[in-house]
Amino acid sequence: MPTTPSPFTRKPPAAPTVAQLIRFGAREFDAAGLAYGHGTVDATDDAAALVFHALGLDHADAGTAYAVKPGGPQVEQVLGLFAERLRRRVPVAYLMGRMWFAGLEFEVDQRVIVPRSPLAELIARGFAPWIDPARVLRVVDLGTGSGCIAIACALQFPQARVDAVDLSPDALEVATRNVQRHGVGARLQLHLGDTFEPLGDAVYDLIVSNPPYVSDAEMDALPREYLHEPDMALRAGSDGLDVVRRILREADAHLAPGGILVVEVGDSEGRLQQAYPGVPFVWLEFEHGGGGVFLLTKDDLRRHRHELSGAS
Ligand SMILES: C[S@@+](CC[C@H](N)C(=O)[O-])C[C@H]1O[C@@H](n2cnc3c(N)ncnc32)[C@H](O)[C@@H]1O
Repeated sequence: MPTTPSPFTRKPPAAPTVAQLIRFGAREFDAAGLAYGHGTVDATDDAAALVFHALGLDHADAGTAYAVKPGGPQVEQVLGLFAERLRRRVPVAYLMGRMWFAGLEFEVDQRVIVPRSPLAELIARGFAPWIDPARVLRVVDLGTGSGCIAIACALQFPQARVDAVDLSPDALEVATRNVQRHGVGARLQLHLGDTFEPLGDAVYDLIVSNPPYVSDAEMDALPREYLHEPDMALRAGSDGLDVVRRILREADAHLAPGGILVVEVGDSEGRLQQAYPGVPFVWLEFEHGGGGVFLLTKDDLRRHRHELSGAS
């Protein structure tokens, strides 16, 4: 009977400690040239996430966990996950079925992208100093995916009602589970539809979005890890701005006086500025990395409404 060839370049260590398992995995991941950035930053982070997950260890116990020697079946389970990561280039979040965002745990599977937006940092600050957190009573998250941004906002602003929209019924099934998990169902409503379309004429103090913003050309060049994510969560036309344009066109009508629009556009930042040269996008800075997030106020949207409604 043919056997599947080992995906490893070296022999796994015998009776390893947690630290040795992580080191082994990280070396193999580096040797294979895996891509990171789906909630983990490098090979060691990736391997550690899988080891801690398989062994049921808590990251808070990292200090003592590294010396632990797992039993044989547990080691086999870890090596199975390493092999899966190497053979199919599946991001670790999908192998674990979960990922953390803004300090919260979310269920994830291939119906939603892996939560990783730098918006987490802004949410943790209550979007200060751009808006007074105490006056945020209505929030909408456009393109909610797993629900991570909407749920983190609901928890950050306990006085607020939150709407969350997605065009994917599959994504909303995952978001529904996460809404239940975090107990915010009384204040957070999920909507199926295209950006503002299912919301009628509702207005918000905060409109937040991490929409699809990858151009067709960039999609073709993405590492294999990204192909496990839903195409519609990433791809946004020839210049990556298809969905962002729609948001910009309609945001003014849905923003309350004093409100703000905050949108992640990643590497489409330059193309967006070219498409709307007169619009004073404020590009936000992040202590923990990431960028490509702009902010516009209600006044900005109002003043530039002709340009925002017209750019093709
Ligand atoms: C980049 S993902 C972001 C998911 C989540 N907010 C996060 O940060 O992890 C974009 C999401 O927008 C959804 N989407 C794509 N086109 C949309 C549209 N026209 N209207 C609403 N949602 C859309 C996708 O299904 C996907 O879940």
